[in-house]
Amino acid sequence: MPAEPPRLEGKVAIVTGAGATGSGDFVGIGQAISILFARHGAGVLLVDRDQQNAETTLAAIREEGGRASLFVGDVTSNSDCQGMVEAAVAEYGKLNILINNVGISGPGSVTDVEEDFWDKVIDVNLKSVMLTSKHAIPKMIEAGGGAIVNLSSIVGLRAGSGRPSHPYAASKGGIIGLSNSMAVHYGRDNIRVNCIAPGHIRSPMVARHSTEEMLNLRRRAGPLGTEGTPWDVAWAALFLASEEARWVSGVTLPVDAGLLAATPLAMFPYLRDPE
Ligand SMILES: NC(=O)c1ccc[n+]([C@@H]2O[C@H](COP(=O)([O-])OP(=O)(O)OC[C@H]3O[C@@H](n4cnc5c(N)ncnc54)[C@H](O)[C@@H]3O)[C@@H](O)[C@H]2O)c1
Repeated sequence: MPAEPPRLEGKVAIVTGAGATGSGDFVGIGQAISILFARHGAGVLLVDRDQQNAETTLAAIREEGGRASLFVGDVTSNSDCQGMVEAAVAEYGKLNILINNVGISGPGSVTDVEEDFWDKVIDVNLKSVMLTSKHAIPKMIEAGGGAIVNLSSIVGLRAGSGRPSHPYAASKGGIIGLSNSMAVHYGRDNIRVNCIAPGHIRSPMVARHSTEEMLNLRRRAGPLGTEGTPWDVAWAALFLASEEARWVSGVTLPVDAGLLAATPLAMFPYLRDPE
């Protein structure tokens, strides 16, 4: 069999939130996506508001001989979003792929959430997708088309467990609705727009905020019963961003160990009895 070329050969990608909050043994989701994309031949612009977070990713890619550069910026800023797209085109000559990975947690219920906090979560998680796309899409059209992958969550489709996260749920559900509409209205420009809905992934952010007991419960809640890692999400992003998915647009792909296929009672025996 002939050797396959790298899956993103010749492609240029922007990944937002390309660093990871906190240190530890685990990579962040944006970090894993960036490293995997570079391994598969893409030039990657790593965007993060925290330079230190993103420099870890940059160092990991350069150590492997991959192509990547850094843009320090905030995805809630229109001028930073314009700047990141200009930087990608200046560095690599074009733009083919946009991964909207930035996301912050958003605890609280509608009866207790502060209005300012609600606005902040919606701005960071949802408005940012509009701002980055606003500047990226014209460049993708110039390049003959492109692929946008937006990081939603299973919480954008079903209420999560434990304490309420209404601002987070609204932002992640909004991403799915926005992605579907974008997929339809930019389809004739050969731009595909898809979402990933990660389940209980052990990222640095999650590991920092969860007890071992909670991490164990998250693992057991999925039909596969194994722990998800940022790499599981990155493989899905690689497929959706690549030409292999040239006929896939407007989907939300759960990466969740089968969790969305189960009713609570289906998983009850596995949650009740410690494994
Ligand atoms: N970890 C999970 O279990 C899980 C589950 C479902 C969905 N998700 C989603 O996956 C995405 C990544 O999650 P993670 O746990 O790897 O995140 P993380 O917190 O580890 O990393 C996010 C990065 O985004 C950066 N960032 C935050 N706000 C920014 C802003 N305004 N502008 C630019 N950069 C900013 C941070 O500095 C950080 O480096 C998020 O959208 C999250 O909601 C995660």
